[in-house]
Amino acid sequence: MKRFVVLLTVVMMIAAIFVGCGPAKPAKPNIGITIYKFDDNFMSIVRNNIDKLAKDQGDKLDYSIQDGQGDQAKQNDLIDQFLTKGAKSLALNMVEPASASVVIGKAQAKKVPIVFFNREPDAAEMAKYANAYYVGAKAQQSGTYEGELVAEYWKATPTADKNKDGKLQYVMLLGDPANTDAKYRTEFSIKAVEAAGIKVDKLAEDTAMWQTGEAQNKMQAWLSKFGDKIEVVFANNDAMSIGAINALKAAGYFKGNKYMPVVGVDAIPEALDAIEQGTLLGTVLNDAKRQGKATFDLAWTLAQGKPAATDVAPLADAANNANPAGKYIWVPYVKVTKENYKSFK
Ligand code: GAL
Ligand code: CA
Repeated sequence: MKRFVVLLTVVMMIAAIFVGCGPAKPAKPNIGITIYKFDDNFMSIVRNNIDKLAKDQGDKLDYSIQDGQGDQAKQNDLIDQFLTKGAKSLALNMVEPASASVVIGKAQAKKVPIVFFNREPDAAEMAKYANAYYVGAKAQQSGTYEGELVAEYWKATPTADKNKDGKLQYVMLLGDPANTDAKYRTEFSIKAVEAAGIKVDKLAEDTAMWQTGEAQNKMQAWLSKFGDKIEVVFANNDAMSIGAINALKAAGYFKGNKYMPVVGVDAIPEALDAIEQGTLLGTVLNDAKRQGKATFDLAWTLAQGKPAATDVAPLADAANNANPAGKYIWVPYVKVTKENYKSFK
């Protein structure tokens, strides 16, 4: 028995030497991905889409998706770790897009391409690095669509002007003020209403940081202050439109003829349900599926050392790609109302 154990040990040691000396496996391409905050409704959908596509590559790809936790310093540490571990490309949803220059510097030093997505860095920063790309949607368009939804409602509904002063009194729930999506949706939604010849009167606007709970609190406070003086609620996204609807329901709206039009952006599943229930007037599809796919496809192409412009389908989608250099992939928004919401479920 003792001899057998000795023999076995020797055999195992020899085997170990052979395994150790075997041909080195080529390193797999490695992609470092980070989201500004995992606790964000819409970005969780984008994240899950990216994760699924990455998983589909099976053995061919190493990747990691990490939470920036709403903290740029933490996210910078994550990016340093990706680079130390030999990432071949980065897919970054920045906590603070204004910090892109620091990140670009780090990646450029190691010749690692970056695909920014959803939170757009300054064009001037983007221009500094040939291997920096952006995947997103034109926030102006989403704002315009929100405004058009409201204008159509206003014109079709004689009772919409509750105080009959010929003006539309509104409140506006803002997203993260550091985010261009929040800025442009606020600006362009109102511009579209005015462009339709409707006079507006802003009762209040405040940030709820893209979040349902904060939006519900803000809306509740506005309802006790203004009540039915409010004629329309604009929300920069649906997590917040749902928060506003929760507050409105608690105040007795959407029963009998007590109604308040609310519009949002994203078309998350909860928003499509709300359209079905008649509590959300309309929303704008922020296409998480196409954005996730465009981000992953580009990061994966670049990680394999292939050129971006030839291999990524959305880049060939000239109608949506305003930048001929192929650095930007724009995914279009779509208006969603009770007429068409089913096709987005
Ligand atoms: C927007 C989206 C918001 C939020 C934000 C994060 O495009 O509409 O719901 O996810 O991105 O940057
Ligand atoms: Ca009015």
